[in-house]
Amino acid sequence: MTTSAPTGTKKVSIEFRPHDKVTRVPSGMTIFNAANWIGLPIDSTCGAKGTCGKCKVRILRGNNGATAADRRIFTEEELAEGWRLSCRSEATSDVVCHVPRLMGNPKAALMGFDRHVILNANVYKIPLTLTPPTLEDQRSDYSRIRDALEPEGYAIDASLNLVRGLPGVLRRSQWQVTAVVVGNELVSVEEGDTSDRVYGLAFDIGTTTVVGMLIDLNSGAPVAVRSTLNGQAVQGADVISRISYTMLNEDGLSELNEVILRTLNSLISQLLEEGRVAPHEVYEVVTAGNATMQHLLLGVDPEAIGLEPFIPAVEDMVQASAQEVGLEILPQAQVHCLPYLGAYVGADLVAGLLATGLAQNEGVRLLVDVGTNGEIILGSAARTVATAAPAGPAFEGAQIQDGMRASEGAIEAVTITQTGIDLQVIGDVPPIGLCGSGLLDAVAQLRLSGLMLPSGRFVKADEASEIVAPDLARRIITDEEGRRSFVLAWPEESGGEKAIVLTQRDVRELQFAKGSIAGGIDVVMQELGIEDEDLVEIFLAGSFGSYINPQSARIIGLVPPVPVDRIKAVGNAAGEGAKIALLSFRERMVARSLPEIVEYHELSGRGDFNDSFLAVLQFPELDTIGLDPAGLDPTGLDSDGPDTVGLDTRAVADTV
Ligand code: FES
Repeated sequence: MTTSAPTGTKKVSIEFRPHDKVTRVPSGMTIFNAANWIGLPIDSTCGAKGTCGKCKVRILRGNNGATAADRRIFTEEELAEGWRLSCRSEATSDVVCHVPRLMGNPKAALMGFDRHVILNANVYKIPLTLTPPTLEDQRSDYSRIRDALEPEGYAIDASLNLVRGLPGVLRRSQWQVTAVVVGNELVSVEEGDTSDRVYGLAFDIGTTTVVGMLIDLNSGAPVAVRSTLNGQAVQGADVISRISYTMLNEDGLSELNEVILRTLNSLISQLLEEGRVAPHEVYEVVTAGNATMQHLLLGVDPEAIGLEPFIPAVEDMVQASAQEVGLEILPQAQVHCLPYLGAYVGADLVAGLLATGLAQNEGVRLLVDVGTNGEIILGSAARTVATAAPAGPAFEGAQIQDGMRASEGAIEAVTITQTGIDLQVIGDVPPIGLCGSGLLDAVAQLRLSGLMLPSGRFVKADEASEIVAPDLARRIITDEEGRRSFVLAWPEESGGEKAIVLTQRDVRELQFAKGSIAGGIDVVMQELGIEDEDLVEIFLAGSFGSYINPQSARIIGLVPPVPVDRIKAVGNAAGEGAKIALLSFRERMVARSLPEIVEYHELSGRGDFNDSFLAVLQFPELDTIGLDPAGLDPTGLDSDGPDTVGLDTRAVADTV
């Protein structure tokens, strides 16, 4: 297993000529990585290992020391002229360099969210015709391959596993083989020319759901995509209970490691079957998951993540063989676990950053993964900060009286109409409960209707009948102890024996959850000195974030009140980012740099977070977020008025 990360906290500027592009990066970042950061292609076929000699730049100012790799590639004269390998040249002061034109146009594709990504997977297949050994040429089988690859710019290492198979493969193939190189590791030698079949896997390992993608690395196209529940759910629903499980059970860690491997291997077998791909044709894997999931996958004790001061065993990008990790593909295939930004801002968010390009673009953007743990990143190419806010399980429907996960029978969207209420239920069946997105919608629509005050309290039943139609007003009920609730579905509407209600306590739970995330957002906005109007876009990510109605998120104050078309549900950003890192070695280098670039702020114990949290517990007044309550007519008395109180949540839900 290997790990790697750039070094340095001081920033230096690098100017690329003749492209007239300038970037500021942490001191110690290589010029090659800095170019990748701003999407400037520099040639490479060795995965920045300093062996292919293609990433030449001419240093015009700054950074002048030559490395051993430079001396191997360049003549004395070229060195004196300033030629260096950009993948070896670390910028420790301001640099101006000249980048030669590429021989060909790099293949690029639109990926992630409007990202123009240069495709260059890190897997190389090189067909070789070897000269058979003779009494005069007594080189070993391995040397024969190494010598054939060297002129192509590959300096390789190989595992014992690979060497074990070499004698048979070379002789059976009559010395016509294909060498498969990942980075500088010779991972396979195959009979004949197999260069048209190259595959990789990208995984988004969520606490609840695991998504796997089998990708054709030649074309960049997904061959098969599957998802399944994370088998570790039995040992705990969230990361804290999984960490506790490893602490309380002697074999807890190995048990959870086996479970996640079973989950991944079962997905792999389905993906390979669907794609008609053999296990030995998969050469590289990229995983994105939160720190706990990746620790459990690697069999690394996550205990220190769960205890203050919350330290992961390793935050850099980890590379290991499939055999070491336990994945059932080519044993020598390379597995890369994307790095973390902090114990609670995991590789899933690093992948999200790749997919959105947030830390590489101009203009300030906000990325929020809404869940039990709200992960928040704010910034631009100039500066990016991240934090994690403990939101609790309300968004997943837990601790909500009639709450449930987003599965069949869950109310996922709510619209309050002139005459009553319209529910959208997963599976189009009678409702049996309320999931997180339905909870958000219900509260947002009640705020719009005037039935809920900014404090989160329901109005009294008699007040309700003055502001909404009688059918709607009678849905506010009061128990013997004076506690009010809102009936989303009467027993006859739910097809069950009891009504589905939203209680005052449920609303409080939601207020605490949204207060935590909105408080976290407030802290990072203050850190960057950003006002609401400065936000170019807000991305809602994660399995829950993708289903939130952006308008509802705005009405309850979960996100700043920017125009609703700037709030985008970005779906499985982590999976998309893992795919990008698999297909583009350059983007993977960007991911590797992110922990150095993004500033992580721990919220625990911060006084300003507590202040922000308390300040945003209330729901915003509608006029402060650009909505005019006077323009709404929930009673239906104004027949010319709109036929819904607020918004048609179905229409929005259909588009996300
Ligand atoms: S030598 Fe290959 S990328 Fe630098």
